[in-house]
Amino acid sequence: MDRLTRVPGLLYGGDWNPEQWPEQVWAEDVKLMAEAGVNLVTVGVFSWARLQPDAESWDFGWLDRLLDLVHRHGVAVDLATATASPPAWLVRAHPELLPVTADGVRLEFGSRQHYCPSSPAYRQAAVRLTRALAERYRHHPALALWHIHNEYGDHVQECFCPASAADFRHWLRERHGGIEELNRSWGTAFWSQHYNSFEQIEPPRTAPGPVNPTQLLDWRRFCSDALLALHRAEKAVLDEVSPGVPVTTNFMSMLKALDYWEWSRHEDLVSDDAYPDPADPRAHVNAAMNYDLMRSLKGGRPWLLMEQAPSAVSWRPVNVPKRPGLHRLWSLQALARGADGVLHFQWRASVAGAEKFHSAMLPHRGTASRGWQDTLRLGTDLRRLGAIAGSRLRARAAVLLDWDSWWALELDDHPSARMRWLDLLRPWYAALYQRGVTVDFLPPGAEPDGYPLLLAPNLYLLDTATADRLTAYVRNGGRLVCGPFSGIVDRHDHIHPGGHPGPLRELLGIVVDEHWPIPDGETTGLALDTTGPASDATGLALDTTGPAPDATGLALDAVALGAERWSEWIETEGAAETLARYTSGPLAGRPAVTRNPLGAGSAWYLSAHLGADTGPVLDLALAEAGVGAELPGLPEGVEATRRHAADGSQYLFLLNHGPVERRVPLDTPGTGLLTATDLLTGTAPGDTLILAPLGAAVLRLPATEERA
Ligand code: GAL
Ligand code: ZN
Repeated sequence: MDRLTRVPGLLYGGDWNPEQWPEQVWAEDVKLMAEAGVNLVTVGVFSWARLQPDAESWDFGWLDRLLDLVHRHGVAVDLATATASPPAWLVRAHPELLPVTADGVRLEFGSRQHYCPSSPAYRQAAVRLTRALAERYRHHPALALWHIHNEYGDHVQECFCPASAADFRHWLRERHGGIEELNRSWGTAFWSQHYNSFEQIEPPRTAPGPVNPTQLLDWRRFCSDALLALHRAEKAVLDEVSPGVPVTTNFMSMLKALDYWEWSRHEDLVSDDAYPDPADPRAHVNAAMNYDLMRSLKGGRPWLLMEQAPSAVSWRPVNVPKRPGLHRLWSLQALARGADGVLHFQWRASVAGAEKFHSAMLPHRGTASRGWQDTLRLGTDLRRLGAIAGSRLRARAAVLLDWDSWWALELDDHPSARMRWLDLLRPWYAALYQRGVTVDFLPPGAEPDGYPLLLAPNLYLLDTATADRLTAYVRNGGRLVCGPFSGIVDRHDHIHPGGHPGPLRELLGIVVDEHWPIPDGETTGLALDTTGPASDATGLALDTTGPAPDATGLALDAVALGAERWSEWIETEGAAETLARYTSGPLAGRPAVTRNPLGAGSAWYLSAHLGADTGPVLDLALAEAGVGAELPGLPEGVEATRRHAADGSQYLFLLNHGPVERRVPLDTPGTGLLTATDLLTGTAPGDTLILAPLGAAVLRLPATEERA
């Protein structure tokens, strides 16, 4: 990371596509960059055709002049390997490198990302270009960061051509060893799908009916690996030719197609592209979730927001601009969740091409525009916040995220097609967000012991080793909260025998008799006993079908909740207690939410998808685990996170996402907030912080004896 940390403070800038402009314009660009405080620009993302006009000629002169120019103006460069858009001459010489869909359609040249991940011709050409760039610029003083490719999996995530089929077979051999191992893993005794040899296997192309689910699951794994192999080929060249310069590729937030746990092992720095929709009033909650993942991918290390739109994008059916203040607030949100820089797509608005209506830091109207004022202001804000660079968040709750399980959960022919990972995760995350609880994400193989509370909204696919780790975590005092339809299959997507939730049965103290999906548009009632675990020795009443809660004998403080999409007929076993019961529908009276005390901890199970009603259940678990808000008593719509610096100082971000002014009391004893300074204004707010709509503050709390 040495080169990048030479850029002091926070990183600020964007994608710059100078090949779209005559060189006279560059001079104005760098002058304006300096004015705005831009210190890092991403160059060359789509420059392949310009850098290599044909198979045997190179044109680096323009890039030499460009890098020299930005360097003279004090701007560092995130240099792209330019491999995301192979030029026409390469495609025409190797038409077989164009990707093919599951239906056999070959995708044409004329857009971008038109390559087959397994194409030898594409890979050789990409690696050759990467090497040429690395050799030429490795010592250039402007070079701070390498940017491999662009958004792997954005347009093309899979290819069904013969080269991909061969690569898939090779991958299967490596994974399974022999063909009979594959037959067992894929369960090919079903529907006469037995293979005599690997040569008989094809990718899961469009077929008459449901395709073998394990074949599909292996295909998902293979497709993530195939793109990763491409990435690793470029990374190896950069590591060899240009050691000491950090390398990144821009991720796409929570993207199903790529297992970012695996990918991030090959990044020196995690970077992300985020495009929350200004028309979506809940967009900031999703953004927070994505940023928490990016921070978590490398165990809490600072990450980089590589791309965001300064205002509107151009690829939604309706592209709403960011109202005044929103871009600043959302930029600060990325910093609040651990980013050490904010970059954009793109620096100067294009006048031609598919993205000419996309907003830019320097809009078509130029420096007279509102957008340019935003660009200047954000530059000023980031300069003021320079001290936060390198500081980290501390979460006491973690959410398990497993791509393997995500892929398996969303295979076809399940009890309900409505069980989608993001739909299951989002309400849990939103409940925690709303309560001001900071969370990290963890891969299934992680040791969660440092977190008092561990949340698993869904673990459809679960191997026994992970289940054993979770059991040990709970025995040692951890609190695990597990969502429905978990512990169902092993890594081959075969049902764990002996009743769901398979390897979690003992840990959770429940057995599932039958899955009971809820038809679209219907809701099943639940009553949750909020007096907390083990508070009611008599349990909740079984007969809950009556009209009024008091008439049914429910605990007086039972809270009515609604389940959608999913419920289960479950039975408790051992010491497990029932915290909530179904109150309507065919499961009325049966247990719905349970808690199993085990060792020094407890394991909770939600047998239903509670959607917006997930919060009240999580409240009980949060209380038991002793996990609370970053700053208690926050007004509605205000987000608070805290970054901890190595010197013991803290930076408390307070962001008002709401449409009305909010007041945050700072006089709570013991918080140290009364003497804090807002880095954005340089003033001390005193006993009350007033946040305008879309307003923000970053309070610096100096290191004290107690905190150090
Ligand atoms: C990103 C992409 C950029 C640009 C941007 C527009 O997905 O990496 O090149 O297309 O979207 O929003
Ligand atoms: Zn292919």
